[in-house]
Amino acid sequence: MNNPGRSGPKSAAAPLISDIIRLKRKTQAVILTHNYQPPVLFEIADFIGDSLELARRAAEASAPLIVFCGVKFMAETAKILSPEARVILPEPKAGCQMADMITGAALRMKREELDPVTVVAYVNTPADVKAESDICCTSANAVRVVNSVASDRRILFVPDKNLARYVARETRRDIVPWEGHCYVHAFFTAADVARARKEHPDAVVVSHPECPLEVLDASDHVASTGGMVRLAAEHPRMVLGTESSMCSRILRDHPDNRCWPLRRTAVCKNMKMTTLAKVKAALQGQVPEVTLPADVAERARAAIDRMMALS
Ligand code: 13P
Ligand code: SF4
Repeated sequence: MNNPGRSGPKSAAAPLISDIIRLKRKTQAVILTHNYQPPVLFEIADFIGDSLELARRAAEASAPLIVFCGVKFMAETAKILSPEARVILPEPKAGCQMADMITGAALRMKREELDPVTVVAYVNTPADVKAESDICCTSANAVRVVNSVASDRRILFVPDKNLARYVARETRRDIVPWEGHCYVHAFFTAADVARARKEHPDAVVVSHPECPLEVLDASDHVASTGGMVRLAAEHPRMVLGTESSMCSRILRDHPDNRCWPLRRTAVCKNMKMTTLAKVKAALQGQVPEVTLPADVAERARAAIDRMMALS
C-alpha cells in the first residue's frame, strides 16, 4: 500500500469499506484509483494517481486481479500493460467523452491523408486508436513525448485539440490537432481565472493542459492531476482549473491547505459512476472484465511501451 486512505472507515460507508478490504485480501486484488474518483473510494485504494502513475502501477503489478476505479481507457491501458492479470472495471459504462471522439478507422484514414506523419495518441483514447498510433502520451509527459519525435517529422496529435495546441506551443513543433476536447475542461475561460484571482488573491492557479491555451496562459502552473498533488506541498492555497472534485484529493493529502475549483460545475460524470457497492460486487464476481482482441492489445502496447521507455 503506497498511499492508502488516510482516515478510517466512516459512518454509513464503513460496512462496505470493511467488506471490500476483506474481499481484496481474499482475492489478492490491487485497487488502482484515479484522482477524480469520488473521495470515499480513496478509502479502499492501494494507489491513487494520474493516468501515467496508474499505468506505471499496472505495469509493475504482480496481483492476479486489478480493480480499476476510473474510466474505460485507463482500465484498458492497465490490461495492455498487465496482460496476465484479470482487470475489472466496476462500472463498464464509465467511458470518456473525449476518447469517444475518435475511432481506429477514422485515424487510419487521416493518417493516410497526411502520410508521412507520426501519430502521438493521448492515453485518453480507445485501444484500437492506440494500436494505430506510433507513441502514446499522458498529460504528465506530452511535451517530453513530442520532443522525442524526430525533428523533421510532422505530428498528428489525437484526440485533444487543446493539449495539442499547448504541446505545439511548448515544443515549437508542427502539430496537426484532432478536433476532440474534454467537456469538463474545454469551456473554462480566462475570465474564470480573473474572477478566481479576485476572490482568492493569495492562491496560485494551476490548470490542466486539457484547458484552452488562454486559460493556461492566465494560470500560474500547468500540471497533470498528479502534478497538482505535488504542487500542493509547496502551495497551501490553490485554485484548480480541472475537475472540481480534485480539491478533495488535494485536501486528503494536505488537510490544512485551502483549495477551490475554478468552476464548481466542472464535473466528469463518468468518473463519478464508480461506487463502493459496485466495487464490492466487482470483487465478489470478478466481473465486468476488460478484454481486448490480442492483435489490438499487442499493437497498442508497442505505442504505450515507447512512452513508458521515456519516463
Ligand atoms: P491526468 O492523467 O492528468 O490524471 O488526466 C486524466 C484525465 O482524464 C483528465 O481529464
Ligand atoms: Fe475524459 Fe474529460 Fe472525464 Fe478526463 S475529465 S475522463 S478527459 S471526460
